[in-house]
Amino acid sequence: MAVNLLLGLQWGDEGKGKIVDVLTNDYDIIARFQGGPNAGHTLEFDSIKHVLHTIPSGIFHKTAINLVGNGVVIDPVILVKELKNLDKFDIDYKSKLLISRKAHLILPTHRLLDAASEASKGKAKIGSTLKGIGPTYMDKTGRNGLRIGDLELSDWKERYRNLANKHEAMIEFHGVELEYDLKALEADFYEAVTILKELTFIDSEEYIFEAQRQGKSILAEGAQGSLLDVDFGTYPFVTSSNTTAAGACTGLGIAPNKIKEVFGIFKAYTTRVGSGPFPTELFDEDGATMAKVGNEFGSTTGRARRCGWLDLVALKYAVQINGVTQLMMMKGDVLSGFETLKICTAYKYKGKEIKHFPYNIEPENVEPIYTEVKGWSQDLTKMSKKSQFPNELNDYITFLEKELETPITIVSVGPDRKQTIHM
Ligand code: IMP
Repeated sequence: MAVNLLLGLQWGDEGKGKIVDVLTNDYDIIARFQGGPNAGHTLEFDSIKHVLHTIPSGIFHKTAINLVGNGVVIDPVILVKELKNLDKFDIDYKSKLLISRKAHLILPTHRLLDAASEASKGKAKIGSTLKGIGPTYMDKTGRNGLRIGDLELSDWKERYRNLANKHEAMIEFHGVELEYDLKALEADFYEAVTILKELTFIDSEEYIFEAQRQGKSILAEGAQGSLLDVDFGTYPFVTSSNTTAAGACTGLGIAPNKIKEVFGIFKAYTTRVGSGPFPTELFDEDGATMAKVGNEFGSTTGRARRCGWLDLVALKYAVQINGVTQLMMMKGDVLSGFETLKICTAYKYKGKEIKHFPYNIEPENVEPIYTEVKGWSQDLTKMSKKSQFPNELNDYITFLEKELETPITIVSVGPDRKQTIHM
């Protein structure tokens, strides 16, 4: 059985968690392939909002197995908090949640290093979520990291100590004032590791091979968005993993020829949290309206998200890099009430009109070129089928499908599971 992929096509926060939750009934296994608790996947049903950071978004369904893959970085302290939240809902995570032995651990000193590194950058800071993501992936690629499987070895504390000592020297090197109580952080860490060790650690790639052999259906769940990919995103204002489709191969051990559908999730407009270029960013009333109506605040950090019009140049780039086969448009309801909608269909780049996503999209090089379309005024949030859509929304969808040469198969009109329209 083939594997389907689901990933974000913009700068994250597209609403991947909601769609994974909606699609989970169709799958035996939901598998996260990269990122860590910098993610905040929001799900809403029965009038309750759930935010997951590490745990795959299929956990609320009865039968699906949820796998945290080797490409993910895990902070035991945050994961244990997530587990405690699940306790309230009587979720049997001891049998439904599996963790790859090859996933790397975020240590307390990784978080401190992240903070020291950001502080030392001053104005040039990335705007990191400060969850220790960059330093943990640095240790992974530098071949120094500690992995989940190491927790089963007798000398893991010694290895932790050696690495933490090195991190402390690195923190000092940054030359910034950072107040912390490592003893207290370590106490929390050790306590969380004890709880974490009650979960099931597996050789996840073998588990995936076997599941494929048995014809099980697998949905690989991405985190962040394509424009935050460490290779293809707006470097250096990116995260430290491959958020694009190839990341699912390395982050789970899935061969490229086993991937069938690639579901690309995007918002009907664009948002970005943290620093970095954003060509269609709005600094006016329209941007403020999107932020307010769309409740655009980070689910991990609470930071206000920057808002702007839909950038089709960037979206097309993401569709191509990921080989997207189906698009899913989120938050169409937020655009209700705009008389005119703007869609960026090209960039003016160093004075010339271009249609591709160039090396450098800093504002001094890039100016968006917009196509204007008519907006709609109807409230979409109560609609339950496509036939209720206003003509202008249908025109917006048709325009995007044509430009992106890919069908839009789901339109989301609100945060609840039920506010999902299959086209
Ligand atoms: P880091 O991955 O926490 O180091 O953050 C690097 C950049 O990616 C920052 O601009 C963050 O705001 C952004 N980022 C990381 N994770 C997410 C996410 O899940 N949604 C949106 N932006 C994110």
